[in-house]
Amino acid sequence: MPRKFFVGGNFKMNGSQASIKTIVDGLNDAKLDGSNEVVIAPPALYLISVAKAVNAPVEVAAQNAYIKQSGAFTGEISPEQIKDAGVPWVILGHSERRSLFHDSDSAVAEKVKLAIETGLKVIACIGETLEEREKGITSQVNQRQLEAIAAAIPESAWKDIVIAYEPVWAIGTGKVATVEQAQEVHADLRKWLAGRVSPAVAEATRIIYGGSVTAKNSPELAKAEDIDGFLVGGASLKPEFVDIARTKA
Ligand code: G3H
Repeated sequence: MPRKFFVGGNFKMNGSQASIKTIVDGLNDAKLDGSNEVVIAPPALYLISVAKAVNAPVEVAAQNAYIKQSGAFTGEISPEQIKDAGVPWVILGHSERRSLFHDSDSAVAEKVKLAIETGLKVIACIGETLEEREKGITSQVNQRQLEAIAAAIPESAWKDIVIAYEPVWAIGTGKVATVEQAQEVHADLRKWLAGRVSPAVAEATRIIYGGSVTAKNSPELAKAEDIDGFLVGGASLKPEFVDIARTKA
């Protein structure tokens, strides 16, 4: 079965009630036909209102979740609470969480495990820094990040996981990876999944690309065999996100 093209919009810590309403109205007006899976991730404060306001087929994701379901963890939100809010997805392991908030490989794996056990679907982010790419360890870094997750979950969990490959050097920099650079890593990850998990999981799992994706570069990237969609940051706040959401694979 072909993999359904997936377009995520990660608003990060951007937006207001008014600007987010404009984005949601734009998506609703676009009347997307559901040929691509489209998921938007507003800041936590706006999750419930966006989940209520946005029309199918667009769904909503939280940008993070904690490793516990409740308790004295000021400032955190739990997978149970995300589910209770009517939000089916969560982004975990984003490079900004890893670098700015010290989410280690094992913390990300624990978060993925609990989110999956709670019944959420996960956009699991991995990616190398520029320094790591220049050292020639791109493959090792991405496989290490993915291995932590693979070791924490059963094979059956992969049906609820989308892998977002986001080279850190391409995030918010305007330096998009070339189609060849992205395809090379995606193919490498799919091969790794086939060996580490199973050929069926490797074939079915969406591996999406993130890092300076725009309406201009998305059609070219989408042509690559192993690029199954995008995780869009900056451009998800702009009207062009509707065009990216309509990208033909
Ligand atoms: O989660 C999204 C990525 O960090 C990409 O962000 O499109 O602004 O480069 P960007």
